[in-house]
Amino acid sequence: MIGFFWGEETLPLLITVLVIAVLLFYFRYEERQSLINTLGFFFVCLFGELVGGLLHALDLARAAAVTREIFVIGAGVAVIRLWGQLVFRIALPAFKFRPPRITEDIFVIIAYLAWFMVRLRYAGLDLGSILATSAVITAVVAFAMQDTLGNILGGLALQLDNSIEVGDWIKVDDIAGKVVDIRWRSTLVETRNWETVVFPNSQLMKNKFLVLGRRTDQPVQWRRWVWFNVGLDTAPTRVVGVVESSILQTEIANVAKTPAPSCILMDMDSKGYARYALRYWLTDLMQDDPTDAMLRWHIMSALQRAGIKLALEGSNIYITKENEKYEEAMHQREVQLRIKTLRRVELFSQLNDAELKGLAERLRYSPFAKGNVITRQGDEKSDWLYVIINGEAEVYVDLPHRKRRLVRTLGRGNFFGEMGLLTGAPRSASVVAKTDVECYRIDKEAVEEMLHARPGIAEEISHILVARRAELDTAMQNLDATGGHKDLSQQRREILSTIKRFFSLG
Ligand code: CMP
Repeated sequence: MIGFFWGEETLPLLITVLVIAVLLFYFRYEERQSLINTLGFFFVCLFGELVGGLLHALDLARAAAVTREIFVIGAGVAVIRLWGQLVFRIALPAFKFRPPRITEDIFVIIAYLAWFMVRLRYAGLDLGSILATSAVITAVVAFAMQDTLGNILGGLALQLDNSIEVGDWIKVDDIAGKVVDIRWRSTLVETRNWETVVFPNSQLMKNKFLVLGRRTDQPVQWRRWVWFNVGLDTAPTRVVGVVESSILQTEIANVAKTPAPSCILMDMDSKGYARYALRYWLTDLMQDDPTDAMLRWHIMSALQRAGIKLALEGSNIYITKENEKYEEAMHQREVQLRIKTLRRVELFSQLNDAELKGLAERLRYSPFAKGNVITRQGDEKSDWLYVIINGEAEVYVDLPHRKRRLVRTLGRGNFFGEMGLLTGAPRSASVVAKTDVECYRIDKEAVEEMLHARPGIAEEISHILVARRAELDTAMQNLDATGGHKDLSQQRREILSTIKRFFSLG
């Protein structure tokens, strides 16, 4: 009886099953229920074979053979299923190849059929007659299940011609989402709103659908438009230049480098404004709205820095124009706020109230979005001095081999850009917005007036400049031959005379 039940292949088979089961349990823990079912089925079949052995021992040869055959087929089915799961759910994904579930099913079913045929043949049944009968049955079943078969064949076709793959973003009518599974009858698509849409495969086969962001031999990225309006009184080349130069210099998450974002004039409206679009390629299709929002913020701040106003609807213009007193009051409030901020800046501590007011009137509010490069090292155009009102900016120096080093982080009340503005030298470092940063920007004429009125300020600035210069030199390890800095007071005198020369101070 034992010989009938326990052949020489039984032990290796048992070990194989247990090894696969352990692997599946470890790597596909979430599918453990299906694993437990398959294992249960396998052991029931083993037990069935044992029963076959018992019948054999009781001299019931025919019953024993039939029982054994049935359970051997059953055990084989369980083993094929386990192998299928091992190959398709662990081995192939390990090589970054994730076939959809339908492919696994097809392979496993073919293996089942082959196994079934082999065993029938082994049991001495005539395959020819079985095939003839099964062909008739198949025809009848196919007729009865036209819809289902349509879906199944649809699923197969979708797989075979690669028109969609798991992970693709597709759009059908007004539903867009990511394909998470292609099943026998249907395809599952998860939308950004956390809905799962089930499309019958036949529908996808019969109707057109968009595969978003896919293009032959190109990375997945999807073009999007961010719209904004500016009054017709501003030259379009200026608007385009301001927006593009700010966006192109900044690294923004999920925005492709190539093709680069571009800003174009799309329309001129009869209401008196020009309609622009910033077009860019989105690399993570999940992040459409947040990335659009980020770009809107970049556009807004770039325009604001350039003193360009976004066009408002006619009604809004009417309200603000009519209420000029209100506007004046707002302006005064803003100037008072600026004076309060300037008082906290050590650079302006010598200025009296009237001088501070004069300066406050001449400031330009300049917001920067996180990641914006505010000054670029080596830039010859050093026209502005900045005072930070809110947020943080980082001062970097570029080293050889494309490396950069952080010199210092500046925050509220700190100023920068003075080295270039006061001496006419190119920018000594790059200053990058660490967070969103709000600044006031001061031009050269305003600084010139201030220095003429208060020459003492030049003196004070020269101290700060020397200290910053030393810090920069250390960051760049740019020490002179003696291994130390030049005499600091000597340096300060040099800087002071450069400033005085530059501003023609006496
Ligand atoms: P500028 O050279 O015009 O442009 C880069 C600016 O970075 C520079 O002016 C300074 O305002 C600022 N900067 C350079 N070095 C330092 C430093 N060590 N500490 C603070 N700010 C600095």
